[in-house]
Amino acid sequence: MSVQKTAVRLTVPSLRARKDGDPIVSLTAYDVETARLADPHCDMLLVGDSLGMVVYGLPSTLAVTLDMMAAHGAAVVRGSSHAVVGIDMPFGSYEQGPGQAFESAAWLMAQTGAQAVKLEGGVAMAETIRFLVRRGIPVIGHVGLTPQAVNVLGGFRVQGRSRDGWPAIEADAKAVAEAGAFSIVVEGVSEPLARRLTEIVDVPTIGIGASAGCDGQILVTEDMLGLTAKAPKFVRRFAGIGKSMDEAFAAYAQAVRDRTFPALEETYAETE
Ligand code: KIV
Repeated sequence: MSVQKTAVRLTVPSLRARKDGDPIVSLTAYDVETARLADPHCDMLLVGDSLGMVVYGLPSTLAVTLDMMAAHGAAVVRGSSHAVVGIDMPFGSYEQGPGQAFESAAWLMAQTGAQAVKLEGGVAMAETIRFLVRRGIPVIGHVGLTPQAVNVLGGFRVQGRSRDGWPAIEADAKAVAEAGAFSIVVEGVSEPLARRLTEIVDVPTIGIGASAGCDGQILVTEDMLGLTAKAPKFVRRFAGIGKSMDEAFAAYAQAVRDRTFPALEETYAETE
């Protein structure tokens, strides 16, 4: 196990420079303890708007608000000291145009201390990304399956399975890179398309449901830990935390019911 330890946090330019270097290791985090445990192993922690589904049980990310992102983002920054912390711009907080996007992004960064924002979309978002980057806000792009567009896409569907769909997604990735995004999340696309996108852009691609050929990988932490009841096909369960929790809850319930918890050493003695 290799654990990265640095006295200072990694920077956005150092991640940008990883296009030709070691893969970028990234996970989502929504709370302080997850951030604390994942931070030494990761180059980037993403406060994803997937928290709407994972933490709040919402059917999609569409109802996630700036306030929710700010509360979770601040916790993740407090729990980490090594990884770059990126934070998702929630649906409705940036699509009107560069001005709205700047106001939302600047507020999120000030509230949380995150170093970068992520926003979904390609060609349509290029002008906004350029505006933000020129004003000091590092941006992570997100192309392919963009969950905030679930209603337009007609579900959480893999994109670019047929070559007919490639040109539009290639144009999206190029537009986002040319606009100044320092990395691009490539989500839910066919494996060969993910490789192609990685070839045609000069910034690191970070894959999720994409390809080992991407310049980095990200997973939703609760999925890879085996905490979520169901996970997509592309998720590898690196642990079975859900099962461990179930066993712990059962053992606790039993100990309470048979009055073996708390034991005397788990209680406070009377003072003289
Ligand atoms: O919201 C999220 O967690 C994400 C990642 C899955 C990339 O956008």
